[in-house]
Amino acid sequence: MKDLIVSEDIAKAEGLAARAFFDPAVLALELETIFQTRWLLLPEPSGADARADSRPWVERLKQRGARAPVSLLEKPLFLQRGWRDAKLRLLPNVCTHAWYPLAPGPGRGERLVCAQHGRQFDAAGKCLSQPGFAPKAGVFPRACDHLAEFPTEALGPLLFACLGKPASPFGRIAGLVEESLGALPVERLERRPQAGDLRELDGNWKQHSWNYMDKFHVQFIHKAPAGLADAIDLNSYRTELHEGASLQWAYAKDPESGFDPDLLPARFRDPKGRRVFALWWFLFPNLTLNFYPWGLSVNVYEPIPERPDKTLFRWYAWSWDDKKFAARESRWLSDQVDAEDVEAMAQVRRGLRSGSAPRGRFSPTEETGPHWFHHAVSRGLRGA
Ligand code: FES
Ligand SMILES: [Fe+2]
Repeated sequence: MKDLIVSEDIAKAEGLAARAFFDPAVLALELETIFQTRWLLLPEPSGADARADSRPWVERLKQRGARAPVSLLEKPLFLQRGWRDAKLRLLPNVCTHAWYPLAPGPGRGERLVCAQHGRQFDAAGKCLSQPGFAPKAGVFPRACDHLAEFPTEALGPLLFACLGKPASPFGRIAGLVEESLGALPVERLERRPQAGDLRELDGNWKQHSWNYMDKFHVQFIHKAPAGLADAIDLNSYRTELHEGASLQWAYAKDPESGFDPDLLPARFRDPKGRRVFALWWFLFPNLTLNFYPWGLSVNVYEPIPERPDKTLFRWYAWSWDDKKFAARESRWLSDQVDAEDVEAMAQVRRGLRSGSAPRGRFSPTEETGPHWFHHAVSRGLRGA
């Protein structure tokens, strides 16, 4: 465990040991600690399902009693809109009698009847009755016969959930993101389903989060000419670190690729007239919200239980300006940067398993983001 402790002092810190990126015991510990206490994005529909209906869960499940199965970190869950109230609840898709799934597919109704032995629940997850069980105080139903709701929160069209007790209130992190968005038309965001919105990638989930927090590699992996390093003014690159979230941003070389300064808060305004290329938000542990002048690109680096050297990659695009959205490859280089990162992480994956991978150091000037991430993982593993 000593090799997973990362000093808060960047000058002294050694990064997480290489085994943190392939040892199944570390992944199991992460799932019990970090992923039980942080707010996680609830996966939106992907693939053909999203192409058939691109509305987010909050819209799809608008009618009272509407429900749909979802899963987070391979846990079976379902979303259920109340019947008496309009609340959208996230509930375990596991019957409290003998653990049969309750919602096999999308549906709607005032009550939910388990298909294995007929236990009935209302649309708030309360156990009502079951054939063969007489209601009796203290015997049936017990408190644990009702479905235990998970905390959920919304940010724009996105739904977040916590699988255990949240380490911090959602509003603190959501507030940071919202403050940075100024007058951007978040309410106009519409999902634009795209190919490859759900993929399995090489490399541990932390490699991808770390890489996202790493501005140092931009000049090398996304190099000029024709790379991201050419599209942004690298000298203007900023990494703002907060508890549980981070914002990276830089000015665009071509003003056409930047946000209208009037839409962003005053702190992003440049006396020289340069415009912000993107707002790259990272929400610990594994979510990125990338705001561009065309809209929002969401990336999730989801761990796969028991498979530490693979990552489930979710990639959603939401547009508020379809003309700019159409130019996102040529101007904002989405696919190119993605492909360069995926390839780099596959290379690193070979190295970290080689037996010749000492703990790394962080450049105090270039790698405040990676250090912040390693330190947050280290603390999270110890329950902080
Ligand atoms: S498992 Fe649901 S009623 Fe038995
Ligand atoms: Fe990159």
